[in-house]
Amino acid sequence: MNRETDPRSRRKNEHVRHALEQASQTAFSDFDNVHFVHQSIPSVNMEDVDLSTRFGPFALPRPLYINAMTGGSEWTREINGKLAEVAQATGVPMAVGSMHAALKHPELSDSFTIVRTRYPDGIIFANVGADISLDGAKRAVDMLRADALQIHINAPQELIMPEGDRNFKSWRGNIENIVRHVDVPVIIKEVGFGMSRETLQTLKDIGVQYADVSGKGGTNFASIENLRRENKDMAYLSSWGLSTAISLLEAQPFGGDMHILASGGIKTPLDAMKCLALGAKAVGMSRLMLEQVEHHGVEAAIDHVEQFHHQMRKISILIDAKDIEEITSRPLVLSPEVISWQRQRALDK
Ligand SMILES: Cc1cc2nc3c(=O)[nH]c(=O)nc-3n(C[C@H](O)[C@H](O)[C@H](O)COP(=O)(O)O)c2cc1C
Repeated sequence: MNRETDPRSRRKNEHVRHALEQASQTAFSDFDNVHFVHQSIPSVNMEDVDLSTRFGPFALPRPLYINAMTGGSEWTREINGKLAEVAQATGVPMAVGSMHAALKHPELSDSFTIVRTRYPDGIIFANVGADISLDGAKRAVDMLRADALQIHINAPQELIMPEGDRNFKSWRGNIENIVRHVDVPVIIKEVGFGMSRETLQTLKDIGVQYADVSGKGGTNFASIENLRRENKDMAYLSSWGLSTAISLLEAQPFGGDMHILASGGIKTPLDAMKCLALGAKAVGMSRLMLEQVEHHGVEAAIDHVEQFHHQMRKISILIDAKDIEEITSRPLVLSPEVISWQRQRALDK
């Protein structure tokens, strides 16, 4: 099969194109509803600040990762190659996009394996959908010699997508089976709609230990899929979902038993710091990294990641915290809208 004639390859290119176009729009950010409390007399120096983090078997010198996006077409092979160069230079973990296209058409697999080639010793996450078979999940991990497997859950996207899935009943059992039988950590991730307490409870009940809440506020797949509909008649769902900040509040009861990761709408080092303060072990960025490599190039993207981390350390000083444990214990002030959500949902922070 020619790479670009596979419907999944075409769809992937459309997603990338729309996501890059969305980047210029100002999106709503709930991070502006979460405030740190400034401390005027810090007790730490820049060199004391250590934002290294740990979740499961992963010890990361910096709490950032490049989240799932691409692969499955010629264009996205190039993008994956560039992202892998950024990951290699900065040492951050990197996820690839959904690998179903390559599982079905092995000739597309080099659009994913290029990441392992360019990041030979790095932490790489494979990525599949919740309808994948156990065999497919294992093959995806093997294809990349992946260190973890992401399973994306994306019901709104499927439902708005004209050719999307309409069957969801099997997801729970399928995820449970994969978590039990795959021998790398399995991270269940949203794709920009966030996760509720109920979702996280379900995940916990079926043995999931890693969740990336990937909330609303950045890449918006409700809008992207609506643009791909002939009548564009589902625009009213464009604000569906839970923001990343709200999702992290919903996740508060699970921090002890599960490793909670954050992504979705991370635009600044301050956003990322707020995620850490709300309990995330690491912070993922998709669109920001896509924009960097596509609009500015690999060198600029590497510099961006370095600066991003450096500035997170500066912000740490402003709240007088030297590490993630201290960041998590610093006070946060929430806007009335967030407090209202918190009260109605009986959440604590
Ligand atoms: C172009 C593009 C393609 C994506 N494809 C996938 C995918 O294949 N699998 C997945 O789990 N998430 C995918 N995502 C979702 C991201 O991993 C992430 O959850 C979401 O974009 C929110 O993060 P952001 O606001 O930093 O972009 C994609 C995102 C973008 C921008």
